Amino acid sequence: MKLNIAVLPGDGIGPEVTNQAIRALNAIASEFDHSFKFTTADVGAIAIDNYNDPLPDETLELCKSSDAILFGAIGHPKYDNDPSAKVRPEQGLLELRKELGLFANIRPVKAYETLLDKSPLKKHIIEGTDISIYRELTGGIYFGEKHLSEDGNLASDLCAYSREEIERIAHLAFKAAQNRNQKVTLVDKANVLESSRLWRKVTTEVASDYPDIELDFLFVDNAAMQLILNPKQFDVILTENMFGDIISDEASVIGGSIGLLASASIGEKHALFEPIHGSYPQAAGKGIANPIASILSAAMLLDHFGLNNEAEQLRLAVEKSLKLDITTPDINSKYSNITTSKVGEFIEDFIFHPKDKNINFTNIHLGQSTII
Ligand code: IPM
Ligand code: MG
Repeated sequence: MKLNIAVLPGDGIGPEVTNQAIRALNAIASEFDHSFKFTTADVGAIAIDNYNDPLPDETLELCKSSDAILFGAIGHPKYDNDPSAKVRPEQGLLELRKELGLFANIRPVKAYETLLDKSPLKKHIIEGTDISIYRELTGGIYFGEKHLSEDGNLASDLCAYSREEIERIAHLAFKAAQNRNQKVTLVDKANVLESSRLWRKVTTEVASDYPDIELDFLFVDNAAMQLILNPKQFDVILTENMFGDIISDEASVIGGSIGLLASASIGEKHALFEPIHGSYPQAAGKGIANPIASILSAAMLLDHFGLNNEAEQLRLAVEKSLKLDITTPDINSKYSNITTSKVGEFIEDFIFHPKDKNINFTNIHLGQSTII
């Protein structure tokens, strides 16, 4: 298969982790005889520096004309601490989601057997957790009308949802549940918010098309608690933009590190793949950023194009690296010298030589060649 992939590394650790995802995709292309062409463009703080615009026209055009987008991370502390900044890096990502109509953000959360001890949560609680979060991505409070009074003393953000916006992602969530454990949990705040009551009404109506799927409702405050008390009760979580943002970061604790959580943002015409973590500027350039979320996002890209064996191979490589502790310091308590690119190198090697038993552990941990 031929794919044109737009690469938007973005800020902070974005470029480092994205490089490892490209490396993995190149290995897959060569092993499975595909042709992936990567074209890079700026987004976020780096784009503000270079173009005075967090989403330059040429970046948007590139994304529109590509088959898929591989996104790194966005954000810079100089904007975080300046509430009066008129232009912000995050606007680049939000505008991109809106312009490309990426309304469904899918965030898988899994407790890896080999990482059960890495989570601050108890092993027996997280073991076997397998959740798919369906977060609405182009509506709600993120995109509602914003207002700041002239004297600067009153601000508001509107949370608005239309029936159509709810229906289209609800259908995707129910379809996903059909191939999983037949359960959808709608997370909302219907005891307080009018918009949440519309979510309940529309989702209940959509559910009637899927009689095989159990539909459950949870208020978001309770859902936040249930996620760490008993995460195994969840299969597909369906929720609006802001709640999805918050509970997916929370859910990453189950996996042991936010550096493991991948995501796919899907629309009718376009698809973007990105780790859920931020730009982690403190780690930029140090080689300590975990590339796995980015690499697993690349696996979701492969799945999106029906390249399921390829995606499986990539996931197998990731699982092997976790098993052998070829991991960055966020999840590695044994070895402190395994860098972002070392993890990428191992995964690349594994894709080329999946059956090779001659892995030289000494060399891996010395940072030398991984396969002899
Ligand atoms: C995410 C991020 C973004 C969001 C930021 C960077 C705008 O936190 O993808 O979860 O809030 O959606
Ligand atoms: Mg977030």
